[in-house]
Amino acid sequence: MAKFQVPLIKKPHGTGEFYYFCASKPKYKTKTLTVTTGFLKHHPMDKILVIGAAGQLGSELTRALADQFGGDQVIATDLRASASTLFPYCRFEVLDVMDKEALGALVKRERVTQIYHLAAVLSATGEKNPHFAWQLNMESLLHVLELAKEFGLDKIYWPSSIAVFGPSTPKVTTPQFCEKDPNTVYGISKLAGEGWCNYYFEKYGVDVRSLRYPGLIGYKSLPGGGTTDYAVDIYHKAIAKQPFTCFLSEDTYLPMMYMPDAIKATLDLMNVPKEAVKIRSSYNLAGMSFSPKEIFESIKKEVPSFEISYQVDFRQSIADSWPDSIDDSRARADWGWKPSYDLDSMSRDILKHLPTFFPPQS
Ligand SMILES: NC(=O)c1ccc[n+]([C@@H]2O[C@H](COP(=O)([O-])OP(=O)(O)OC[C@H]3O[C@@H](n4cnc5c(N)ncnc54)[C@H](O)[C@@H]3O)[C@@H](O)[C@H]2O)c1
Repeated sequence: MAKFQVPLIKKPHGTGEFYYFCASKPKYKTKTLTVTTGFLKHHPMDKILVIGAAGQLGSELTRALADQFGGDQVIATDLRASASTLFPYCRFEVLDVMDKEALGALVKRERVTQIYHLAAVLSATGEKNPHFAWQLNMESLLHVLELAKEFGLDKIYWPSSIAVFGPSTPKVTTPQFCEKDPNTVYGISKLAGEGWCNYYFEKYGVDVRSLRYPGLIGYKSLPGGGTTDYAVDIYHKAIAKQPFTCFLSEDTYLPMMYMPDAIKATLDLMNVPKEAVKIRSSYNLAGMSFSPKEIFESIKKEVPSFEISYQVDFRQSIADSWPDSIDDSRARADWGWKPSYDLDSMSRDILKHLPTFFPPQS
């Protein structure tokens, strides 16, 4: 039985996790082992650059990367200088990803080996300034892919989105390969980006990996202007004991994912050997699917006095063009993906932890 081995160390001493992938029975497994300091020097050269680290995803993914590689090996960057306080555990630098020279100089100076490129204009914000969204989302990806080619970087991570799908896409259990006619500039840029990722892999051997995230729901930071933001905002209102006004109609189903699952999926994909990654555009990824009515009912089980009303806006038509649910069987088969959370377990966890990060205003 062929095995590839990728050791991941979580602590400087003591116990670490040993990840391995079994090629004959595709499944990604972990084993906890006791490790020695000598073993820790296994990957001394990994240097991870996170771009757009201060956002909803980046602020949690950067922490997970520092846990895996060690804080000294991770550099968090973002356009916003004020974000430096978010990263006491690793270095932070202000970086505009559109400044290709500054990005290249940083990669060279720091001997960066992997880039996680998370900076983007999201779906709802993108519709307000489509040309800017296209420019940022596309040019920044091309900068990163070119640098990866030029410097021979080990791996690149770049997230795509369910926004690549459109009105002609099958809505239920949307397949990995199907018609895609995105009708937002965000979706158009993600679909084009997937094509570029595949191109750089095929033409230049750049090891770029990608996931089509559903709407991401976390409690540690605020969302950045997407169509699924309501599913984060609703928990803040529930904790504040205030009624919630939803910008989508009560029966609008969308694919969603709890942040710990999104982080796990990202690390899982990035840690499997190159040969296991069979799709170089972007993998479908599913966690759960629910409507505003269902998330409201799930919260109401914990907060019985909670109330909701609906005031639909322009984001409804974006949501209507996206799938209700996603078929992620390729991710499951190729690298062993499996989500851990459903709607109720996510609601319980968020309501328990959110007040620590965002104490309700009195
Ligand atoms: N959040 C979701 O639900 C979701 C779903 C699907 C895909 N994604 C993708 O995941 C990635 C991260 O999303 P997010 O929700 O964390 O977004 P976000 O808007 O919360 O964060 C983006 C970060 O990028 C930074 N940024 C913007 N312009 C920059 C520039 N020119 N240079 C450097 N940094 C810049 C912003 O300051 C921000 O901190 C994006 O590519 C997004 O398309 C997110």
